[in-house]
Amino acid sequence: MRVTINDIKEMKLRKEKIAMLTAYDFTTARLIDEAGIPLILVGDSLGMVILGYESTIPVTMDEMIHHTKAVVRGVKKAHVIGDMPFMTYHTSSADALRNAARFIQEGGAQSIKLEGGVAVAETVQRLVTSGIPVMGHIGLTPQSIHQLEGFKAQGKTPESALRLIQDALSLEEAGAYSLVLESVPYALAKLITERLKIPTIGIGAGPDCDGQVQVISDLLGLYTEFVPKHAKQYVKLAPQIKEATSQYMKEVKEASFPTTQHSYSIDPEVIEDLKAALGGITTGKE
Ligand code: KIV
Repeated sequence: MRVTINDIKEMKLRKEKIAMLTAYDFTTARLIDEAGIPLILVGDSLGMVILGYESTIPVTMDEMIHHTKAVVRGVKKAHVIGDMPFMTYHTSSADALRNAARFIQEGGAQSIKLEGGVAVAETVQRLVTSGIPVMGHIGLTPQSIHQLEGFKAQGKTPESALRLIQDALSLEEAGAYSLVLESVPYALAKLITERLKIPTIGIGAGPDCDGQVQVISDLLGLYTEFVPKHAKQYVKLAPQIKEATSQYMKEVKEASFPTTQHSYSIDPEVIEDLKAALGGITTGKE
């Protein structure tokens, strides 16, 4: 049975912590679904960790849909969330609805995530009343990076902390089923988590959120350009991949790979018969 938004809300009531991860492709999505991760986000972080952009700003709807479809094909149980890219939900409610609907209809996702608080609450309400479940995202919102002056923790002053609380409450009121808190001081994240009925999912927001999300490339030690303070590398795959590929190259060069173990056999008689037949074949150039 597919994980639903009600299952996620009930986890908060049961005080059961929620582990969410990003995925961008079929194989990874299948593995983490089989591992039992209940929430899989096709994050617009794919712009940086998969497509090599400098930020998430250039990511397009078509790119997001392409990757969402791949993830959905790999997932049997988890709830898949499509991340609305920059400027696909700000221009008008109609645009937001059309783009969010693409994630559900074309991409096969079960809900969408978007960044912003009070400023997007009306849009969230419109999506939710149209039948599209929405996860909010406040704190450090990478799509507003130029306004935030860099990747810094948010809500550290009394004014900005109060703004974050208002953002969180307005998203809950608008009908969001859950909320990502990114790079928020842990005491503030705890306060917000205690005030909300919907689950908070933290990334760099401390241990008291109802759940946690990590970017899979950080968790697996794949993206080495920049490792955020809040990321934990459970394995370091980047050096292992480099080591495996240079070993492969060495073996190809010295002809120790492939061996017969990695090759297909044929009845030797067939080869002998072929040789005999080929002996009688001329090229026509003689
Ligand atoms: O795009 C993403 O991966 C995200 C998570 C960091 C929450 O938004």
